[in-house]
Parts: sequence; C-alpha cells; structure tokens
Amino acid sequence: AVVSVQQALSGAIAPGSEVTVRGWVRTRRDSGELCFVNVSDGSCFDPIQVVATAALGNFADEVRKLSSGCSVIATGTLAPSMGKGQRFELQATAIEVTGWVDDPLTYPMQPKQHSLEYLREYAHLRPRTNLFGAVTRIRHCLAQAVHRFFHEQGFYWISTPIITTSDAEGAGQMFRVSTLDLANLPRDGRGDVDFSRDFFGKETFLTVSGQLNVEAYCLALSKVYTFGPTFRAENSHTTRHLAEFWMIEPEIAFATLKEDADLAEAFLKYLFRAVLDERADDMAFIAERVEKTAISRLQAFIDAPFERIDYTEAVALLQKSGQKFDFPVEWGLDLQTEHERWLTEQHVGRPVVVMNYPEQIKAFYMRLNDDGRTVAAMDVLAPGIGEIIGGSQREERLDVLDARMAQFGLEPAHYGWYRDLRRYGSVPHAGFGLGFERLVVYTCGLANIRDAIPYPRAPGLATF
Ligand code: 4AD
Ligand code: MG
Repeated sequence: AVVSVQQALSGAIAPGSEVTVRGWVRTRRDSGELCFVNVSDGSCFDPIQVVATAALGNFADEVRKLSSGCSVIATGTLAPSMGKGQRFELQATAIEVTGWVDDPLTYPMQPKQHSLEYLREYAHLRPRTNLFGAVTRIRHCLAQAVHRFFHEQGFYWISTPIITTSDAEGAGQMFRVSTLDLANLPRDGRGDVDFSRDFFGKETFLTVSGQLNVEAYCLALSKVYTFGPTFRAENSHTTRHLAEFWMIEPEIAFATLKEDADLAEAFLKYLFRAVLDERADDMAFIAERVEKTAISRLQAFIDAPFERIDYTEAVALLQKSGQKFDFPVEWGLDLQTEHERWLTEQHVGRPVVVMNYPEQIKAFYMRLNDDGRTVAAMDVLAPGIGEIIGGSQREERLDVLDARMAQFGLEPAHYGWYRDLRRYGSVPHAGFGLGFERLVVYTCGLANIRDAIPYPRAPGLATF
C-alpha cells in the first residue's frame, strides 16, 4: 500500500508490512554495500530512511547516484530501525526514480543550512527545507484551529469580498482594481478619471479588512468571523508588514470592549495550545534551530492572564520609564513598536491589552467613549512582536458615526449600507482582527514576516 511518511513512522503500521512511500530525497549516505536514502514527503517533520542494498537491480546505476531533490517511489518492508532517533526504516525491494536533479552541484537547496535571505529568492523551492516544511505545517495547524475554535463557540464563517468599494480602515492604503487602459484613461468633464466606464461601473479596490461586511452579518447571526486575504498599500519596509496578508476578524453582537478582550485572550491561548499539542515535531525543530525558548514562551503565553491597561496609563508608564525611545511618547500620539515592546516585555513580562486610545488616532468606526476624547479600541501586544491584534467596540449610534465620518472626511454616500446597520436594529457590538502572518511569526519565533507566508508581497517584492 502507498502510505505517507507520517503513517510509516507513526507506529500504526505493523513492522514487516510491505509499503510504498513517495517523496523527495533529502540526503544519501553510502556505507559499504548499503546505501541510506532519506526521503521526505512533507507529511511530518522527519524523513524516512530507505535502506538499499546491491540486490536492487538499479543499485549501481541509479540508487547510488541519487542526490538531494530527486523524486523517488520506494517500496519495501517496514522494519524497526537501529538508527538513532527513528523508530522505523524502509528496507527497499524497489526504488523507482521519477525525477532526477539536472545538476546536483547547482541544485539550489543543498542539504545544509541556507540563510533566510537566500531562501527568499527561492520561494518555489524553500518548502523543501526543514524550516519551511515546519512553518507550513504549523501555519496549517493554526488555520485549522482558528476554524475549530469559532465553530466550537457557535460562530459562523462569513466570506467577505476581496474586491470592494469602501475603505474599511479609512486610511487610504488601498490597491486599485481596474481594467482601464492606463495609457489612455477615459476622463469625465472635469478631467478626472471616469470610473463609470470601468469594469464595475465605479472605482474599486482590494479590501484592507472584511470588518464592515462582517458587521452586517453579525447584526443578524450574532457571532461571526471572516478569515481571508487582505491588502494594504502601505509603504512599510519592516519585518512586520506585508502588502498581502491574511486576517481573522470575529465580530460579536450585544458585546462591549471587555468581552472583545476576553474573546481575544481565549482565542490566542486556544491556538497556541493546538500547536503545542499537534505539532510537537515541528516545534521541537523550531526550538532547536530558530529559538531555544519557543515552546516555553508559548506555554507561558497560555498560562499567564493578560494584563489590561488603558492607553492613558500606558503613556504615563512609558514616560516614567526612563527609557530612551526613538519616537516621542505623548498623549495623543500612537504607540510605536518600540513602545509596545517595552510595555509587554520590560514592564509587564506577559501579553498586554491596551485599551481606550485617543479618538483622533483610531479608525472612524470605533465607539466614542463618554469622555469624548477616547474610543473603545484595544490592541493586544505580545512580548517579542508588539501588536498582534487590533480591535474595538463599534460605534452603534448613527449620529455619532456620522459625525466621526465627517471628521475623517469620509463620503457618507460610500457607506450607505453601513449606516443602515445603525438605522435598523442597531446593537452594541465589537470585534477584532488578528494578522495571521503575525501569528505565524510569533508561534515560530521568526524574525521576518516574509518567512511566514509562502509567497510574500511587499513594496518592490512580487515575484513568483
Ligand atoms: O489593526 P488593524 O489595522 O485592524 C483592522 O483591520 C480592523 N478592521 C480589525 C477589526 O477590528 N476587525 O489590523 C489588524 C491586525 C493587526 O493587529 C496586525 O496583526 C495585522 O492585522 N496587520 C498586518 N499584518 C501584516 N502586514 C500588515 N501590513 C498588517 N497590517 C495589519
Ligand atoms: Mg492596528
């Protein structure tokens, strides 16, 4: 039977069984009349050791010429292994080579540790490395756990549109979607581009967030979430920003900021628990190669209650800290990564939820607090990374929402349907957004978000 390497190594198949595994050669080692070929199919961290002898018809001409990256189909008897660190090996009765590597010396994924910068140049081949195999399986485990968590809690998954007409964050960082001929754009009477002649008959963009759309479903199905790609044309050349990233955005009806923060805390802990339980093999590798304390760090995150502080208090703490920061700390200015990291790493030593930010630095849809100066916003800050979640209670009062939109210079006509939600059965509601790649970065202890997604997009970077 054809089995995955994971099945072959799991102990679920009786030793002595005949099995076939298919995959790519990691390494080959010759020892006297034996040849050991490690084959990986990505189903688990470990490759399986395939043991070949001269009894194989193609031993000399083919098996002994296998190199890293060749694809093979190996059939043989599953047997307990003498080798260190592996319970089973495959004693081959046949090894069929399905694909050779043209020139083994120039194969880009040599069996050694390559730098992450080098591997980014080979986004199509890096999944064959130990690190990207591990990150890929952990990313999958997190995505599954996201859906499982919400399903268990009675949330419904809503697919929100990728092509949109409204700027959900009101920050003007949208990529335009157009079929117009750039060299020969139609203009209207005032000389402006005439988008009425475009594909959708109006100006359209890639979404920056599914939040506004998911709010509509929240005000009917009560507990919902969206999980999909989002796009931001921010010119940030940092290790934390992508132009295309995935975001998870739950939204809950009849809820305030406190319940929003409770949900964020339970959610993140559930996700890390799932990774520790289900991807022990990959996390052991991460702890060995990427970050020694990766596992204890996630465990500490699960064990510690989050600290909750107001923005106003956070600013006071930063000012009293005696730290020299690059960016100024002053009530009314947004917190920078260095400030967030000081708060969560130096001051509290565990995750922190900062709440109630000044209204002028946060999005138009956030609920204005009674003080008139702050909004019911929250950011969840994690040691080692800073902001991982941003959320808020939403403004459910139409008159206040209109005033906020006017203040931000947003055109009410573009948000008519969103205003309707405040006209027909409005209720207090709240939600947040978790950047999926920030979550992967944090889980795997990665230094750069470009290694948390298969094909990263950032300013000047859109290869593959
Ligand atoms: O704080 P943000 O901008 O919030 C929203 O988009 C809200 N609509 C969410 C909501 O309330 N439903 O983004 C949320 C999260 C951030 O905390 C961060 O983790 C991630 O999205 N994020 C990015 N991740 C990678 N690259 C970028 N350019 C990101 N911008 C935001
Ligand atoms: Mg934010």
